[in-house]
Amino acid sequence: MSKLFIYYSNSGNGDVVASKMKDLGYDIRKVLTNYKLSKNLFLACIKGGFHATIKKKAKLNNYNNDVTNYDEICIGSPIWNGRFSCPINTVLKNTNLENKLLTFILYSGGGEAKKAYQRILKEYPTAKIIILKQPKSNLGELDRIEELL
Ligand SMILES: Cc1cc2nc3c(=O)[nH]c(=O)nc-3n(C[C@H](O)[C@H](O)[C@H](O)COP(=O)(O)O)c2cc1C
Repeated sequence: MSKLFIYYSNSGNGDVVASKMKDLGYDIRKVLTNYKLSKNLFLACIKGGFHATIKKKAKLNNYNNDVTNYDEICIGSPIWNGRFSCPINTVLKNTNLENKLLTFILYSGGGEAKKAYQRILKEYPTAKIIILKQPKSNLGELDRIEELL
């Protein structure tokens, strides 16, 4: 079965997950934006958190939304203010995920992702979900992915 991991990462946690997914046989598609969040975490959280709250869709660089050759899609997003990151909002809007086996891997600073969970349950009720706590500095979190898949 052909499997694809589509993900965004601002500060490297998603990249660590992607490396694990590659080992598990997934093709990898990293989503890129033409802007960077502020290096000041406070400012980044204010701006990115607000944009996530209003469900803003980020502009992506050359996003390839063709998933026709894949049976299984896994989507990776950092949690921004309990929600999906803005680049992943764009992915969800522009990718046809119908009839795909769907999994979400969310990575957070340790907090809950209530709104993201609610959205997944509403819009993708058959999808599997996992939330990893800062996997870049807690590599043991990556072992939980295999338990989910
Ligand atoms: C804009 C912004 C908002 C965030 N909001 C949350 C949050 O609500 N809850 C939480 O636990 N972590 C939050 N974080 C932390 C990130 O979700 C966490 O560090 C994640 O692992 C980052 O993934 P990345 O390194 O792949 O970008 C936030 C980070 C940013 C930049």
